[in-house]
Amino acid sequence: MRLELFELLRPICPVCRLAGRPPAVLGLEVIERQRENDVEEGLLRCGEQACRHEFPILDGVPLIVPQLREYVRGWIERIRSREAFSEAVESLLGDCCGAGTSFEDERQRLSSYAWDHWGDQDPQEARDAEAAGDHGQAAPGSVQRLLTSGLEAGLAAASALPAGPAVDMGCAVGRTTFELASQLERPVLGIDLDLSMLRLARQIRDGGEVCYPRRRVGLAYDRRSFSISPQLREASASRIDFWCCDATVLPFAGEQFAIASSLNLLDCVASPISHLREIARCLQRHGCGIVASPYDWSAAATPVEAWLGGHSQRGAGRGSSAQLVRDLLTPGAHPAAVEGLRIVAEPPQGGWQVRLHERAVMQYRSDLLVVEKTT
Ligand SMILES: C[S@@+](CC[C@H](N)C(=O)[O-])C[C@H]1O[C@@H](n2cnc3c(N)ncnc32)[C@H](O)[C@@H]1O
Ligand SMILES: [Zn+2]
Repeated sequence: MRLELFELLRPICPVCRLAGRPPAVLGLEVIERQRENDVEEGLLRCGEQACRHEFPILDGVPLIVPQLREYVRGWIERIRSREAFSEAVESLLGDCCGAGTSFEDERQRLSSYAWDHWGDQDPQEARDAEAAGDHGQAAPGSVQRLLTSGLEAGLAAASALPAGPAVDMGCAVGRTTFELASQLERPVLGIDLDLSMLRLARQIRDGGEVCYPRRRVGLAYDRRSFSISPQLREASASRIDFWCCDATVLPFAGEQFAIASSLNLLDCVASPISHLREIARCLQRHGCGIVASPYDWSAAATPVEAWLGGHSQRGAGRGSSAQLVRDLLTPGAHPAAVEGLRIVAEPPQGGWQVRLHERAVMQYRSDLLVVEKTT
């Protein structure tokens, strides 16, 4: 956890926020390991006497989530497994664990996201495509393209973009956090709930190297290691940090960010409407939000009652998520419309893809909206 960003953002206690208490700032109470201005292990504590909840900093990533006990119980295996194994040992462990286990789930997710986020930097990627006779049908980089078109439209539409930092919500392995920092030349915080992905993002920032298991087929993975471009690293690394936070209960006071991106996150959270409200709350006046979603609702991530569209097709919008989300982001268009946001641009929908293995890439059309904070 970088001290400059911690001091700039002054995170507040998400437990107090949920309890409706006035927001208390978190203090850095214990530092166990620190390298220069980066705290690698320590504890944050809520300053409110009635609360005093603590939040750990693990391998440089602060965990500032409202239900810490549940989070730690659910993630303890990954919290404890910190050293990467050699490729051969990892492969044997993977065969032993088999499909449907958390070990396999972690490898698959790293494979999908590291490929799309960083595959364009991997010299082996082009050679593989050539060998497979695949001429750019499924090239990595889709999330970066989505961000670029949202950002271009946002900067063109913004009447007076404020000077604050940016937040990249659901940043996964961090490519869009790097891109925001290099294009905007300001501090950017990447947040996510997946500790393994945040660790990889941080390693890329600190070492300039990407190392990830790229799935070939079944339980067979190839380890890929390559450097990212020195220009991208130089333009970004000193400005970014990665924190573990919930995008529906952000640990920040209101009006702190000039830009907030939420790329393919809306349909992954338990409460999409709370997430939209958090975007409104955390943006400064005239700040800009970039929201993209393929509306791929699943009951595993979001209870059906909380889906934005995707059900009740007999209603006025015939179950259309695109229509409902537009209504929610248009003042007065819906009883639950999100206060303080309005749509200022609708760039063409972007292709977004999730690679499963060497013969399967899921293609999505992500609905892309640029919103402005009006009040
Ligand atoms: C579908 S992925 C998209 C990742 C990346 N933005 C992209 O488009 O490639 C959604 C990401 O959001 C994260 N996520 C899910 N629920 C979250 C929440 N409540 N708060 C923050 N991040 C969350 C997941 O761990 C995952 O990395
Ligand atoms: Zn508190």
